[in-house]
Formats: sequence, structure tokens, C-alpha cells
Amino acid sequence: MEVKTGYLFAKPYWTTAIDLNINDLKEECYEFRSKNKGIIKSNRGKNSYHSPDINNLDKKSTIRLLMLKILTCATAIHKNSRKGTLEITNAWININNKGGFNLPHTHAGAVYSGVYYIKIPIDKINAGNFCFYREFSETHLSSEACMGNFKDGYNQLPSDCSTTQIVPQEKMLIIFPSWVTHGVEANQTNEDRISISFNIRIQN
Ligand SMILES: [Fe+2]
Repeated sequence: MEVKTGYLFAKPYWTTAIDLNINDLKEECYEFRSKNKGIIKSNRGKNSYHSPDINNLDKKSTIRLLMLKILTCATAIHKNSRKGTLEITNAWININNKGGFNLPHTHAGAVYSGVYYIKIPIDKINAGNFCFYREFSETHLSSEACMGNFKDGYNQLPSDCSTTQIVPQEKMLIIFPSWVTHGVEANQTNEDRISISFNIRIQN
């Protein structure tokens, strides 16, 4: 008897690299932090800076150039299957040092969200992975307590796992549907991890 395996409801996410002057981006992020007090959203840890929304960017700023490139990339993704013009709703800077992390969350009201990595500690493995989470009702699928232990030597498939983790790289852009639950593990190093996050919606 042949038994076929089907998979339900795959969730997309997209990654690419955007090559910009990282030193300029870094300087602009630190300058913004020096002028703008941080806020608390999903970020936790005393060494976690989440900026207020970045507005009124200097036309010559590298962050503005980054925003344009992100919008171009998201538009290309969107136009593969949908009509409508996209716009970036808001964006903010994240600077996390030791212990800084982001709780699992979603971005209500947006269509696409994402993050661009500007600086990653040399010790990448302990810099804090970006994590996508299954819905809580699905987690029993990956629970050995519920489902039984995995066989020795079995290579786990994405469908066996409760999270999908991405080790961030400098210049990496990650875009995902805003309703997908995601978070960031704690930075366990003594170096800053710097990124810019954003939301995108359909223009009215
Ligand atoms: Fe987020």
C-alpha cells in the first residue's frame, strides 16, 4: 500500500541581502538613539533599545535608502500574486546588548513585516536567533511528550518542529506575513546587535 504525505498550510517568508554601507547605517542608528529615548514594545532586558518610529528621515540618509530598497523588494514579492501598491507604515531601530531579546508577538494591522540586520556580534551563534513560532494549538505536533520520541537517526522536517530559527547575518533582510508569531532570542554576547524593523501595508 502506498501512502502519500501531504502538508497543510505552508507559511511563506522571504530572505535576501541588501548591500549598503553598514558603517553609515550603524552611525545613523547610534545617532538616532542618542537623540530619542527608547520605548517598550516586545523588547525586554535592560540592554534592549527599541526606538520610537523613525520619521522625517534626511533625504541623504542611508536608512532612507534602505527603506526604498526594502519597499522595492516587498513590492516584488507582493506582485507575484497580488494587486495593490505597498507602502512602509513605520520603522524602528533595535539595539540589543547582553540579555536583550524580543518576546513572541505579531504585528497587528500590517500586511508584511520584517527586519534588516546591520550589525551582528562576531559570536553569531550566541547573538540571538530570529524565531518563527507555530500557533500554540499546533505545538503538540512537535512535542515528544505527546507524539513519542523521535527515532534515532531521524532527520527532523520543518513540520516536526515548533519553531523555525534563522541565524542572522549582516545585510540580511527577512520579510514575513505580519500575522506570523515571531520573536528574537537573547543576545548572549557583550557586543551590540543592531537591526531595523518595519511594517508594510497596502496603500488606500
Ligand atoms: Fe516583530
